[in-house]
Amino acid sequence: MTNLIDITIAFVKAQLAQAEGGHDWFHIERVYNNAMLIAEGEECDLLVVQLGALLHDIADSKFHDGDETVGPTLAWRFLSAQGVAEDTIIHVVNIIENISFKGGNFERKFDSAELDIVQDADRLDALGAIGIARAFNYGGFKNRALYDPAIPPNLTMDKEEYKKTTAPTINHFYEKLLLLRERMNTTTGKQIAEARHQYMEAFLEQFYGEWKGER
Ligand code: ADP
Ligand code: NI
Repeated sequence: MTNLIDITIAFVKAQLAQAEGGHDWFHIERVYNNAMLIAEGEECDLLVVQLGALLHDIADSKFHDGDETVGPTLAWRFLSAQGVAEDTIIHVVNIIENISFKGGNFERKFDSAELDIVQDADRLDALGAIGIARAFNYGGFKNRALYDPAIPPNLTMDKEEYKKTTAPTINHFYEKLLLLRERMNTTTGKQIAEARHQYMEAFLEQFYGEWKGER
């Protein structure tokens, strides 16, 4: 199993070959790097963190008609075929099932230091310059408006509404991205999130100024 991480990387790259630009292999690579950085300051099972980061988005329900079982099932099959210990597989699958934000009005049903780390690593990639780029890429992929002053953000969506929303991409900042800073789990995650949050606030201010034609 010396090669497990390399084999997993190859599997994930193949799985995400057709992915939208914000959820492609490079997203996974950034999350993996974030997770390794955060893990330096936490007590954790590093193999679970590595596998959780690499496998967390192999079959996002957004791209599978809302089906949340595809990713966990694929991960389970892949890890079993590699001869990974069952308790490790169970932990990684729990991470995949519980990492997502889904409107925020969603109770996490599983807790571990490793989930805390991978969740923070994933959230950091939703913030800052990359977070802004990913949001607009996803909005374009879904043919959403950039912004519509007549459609205010909706902070009371449940999981199903959140998945189905067709609101402009700017709304996503209020419905998710700007809420993440308060929800970070780890010390390192909180620190990095703070800086990226401020960058997004500055972006929004500039955006509204330009929208109004200020110069
Ligand atoms: P979660 O399920 O935890 O919200 P997602 O995988 O849906 O996480 O979101 C990952 C990223 O995809 C977001 O951080 C954002 O960049 C983009 N995204 C998801 N939903 C939207 C949306 N409605 N509008 C714009 N971007 C979105
Ligand atoms: Ni992700």
